[in-house]
Amino acid sequence: MTAFSIQNLTVVKGEKKILDSVSFDVQEGEFVCIVGPSGAGKSTLLRQLNRLDYGRIGGQILWNGKSLEEYDVHVLREQVAYIFQKAVMFPGSAEENIKMGAQFEHNVTQQELEGRFVKAIREAGITPEMLSVEAADLSGGQQQRVGIARTLMLDPVVLLFDEPTASLDVETSNKFCKTLKVLKEHLKEKKSASLMITHRLEEASFLADKVLMLEEGKVVAFLPVNEFFNNPSNERVANFLKAYKL
Ligand SMILES: Nc1ncnc2c1ncn2[C@@H]1O[C@H](COP(=O)(O)OP(=O)(O)O)[C@@H](O)[C@H]1O
Ligand SMILES: [Mg+2]
Repeated sequence: MTAFSIQNLTVVKGEKKILDSVSFDVQEGEFVCIVGPSGAGKSTLLRQLNRLDYGRIGGQILWNGKSLEEYDVHVLREQVAYIFQKAVMFPGSAEENIKMGAQFEHNVTQQELEGRFVKAIREAGITPEMLSVEAADLSGGQQQRVGIARTLMLDPVVLLFDEPTASLDVETSNKFCKTLKVLKEHLKEKKSASLMITHRLEEASFLADKVLMLEEGKVVAFLPVNEFFNNPSNERVANFLKAYKL
């Protein structure tokens, strides 16, 4: 089943066409990595998927066959969760930070929340020792895990990641990617779709089922991960991959 169908999406801000007739489909359970040069429109595209962005002048986005505008925007954003580059930590322990958002959920029993908590910390790779630590004292990688667990507490259907490793050093980033790989398997079981922007191509090759490459607001390629990295027939992809290597 198709989760997202993006059809001729065009976004203009000021005088500038940020996205130019972007079309692609994301299937249930699929993990798509979005790559491309800085300024290509990657964040704009991701934010359009849960209506965090403005400026759409053309095209449409369907989620589960329904236009995004047909959803209540708060419900949409709970189900299509956006994970920012850097997780915001509030005063309090890691555990309090993780439980923070979900306490306002209606129609969810305490028992269900406890169940979600146990799952969320497992899937986000949080150790029991971390839970009592003041969130601000955790490392960058640990804070990202707390942010993801907090999001998982809301039981989202789709996860949107905008360069979640951008603020992490290489070692932490690699460790975090292994967590994401485990999370990805859980998401696949739930038939959740995920989209993740990354500027580190090794992350895309490690995590993605499919790779979407954007350049100047246009789709240059949308290919299964192996084809993207091993098929030089698309000249712009080949040049992009070449530029990435020293
Ligand atoms: N309000 C705006 N007015 C004009 N240009 C904008 C505005 N917001 C973003 N842009 C431009 O849109 C382009 C795409 O931005 P973005 O989606 O953040 O790219 P990426 O995430 O790929 O780096 C950039 O060139 C940026 O300068
Ligand atoms: Mg960006």
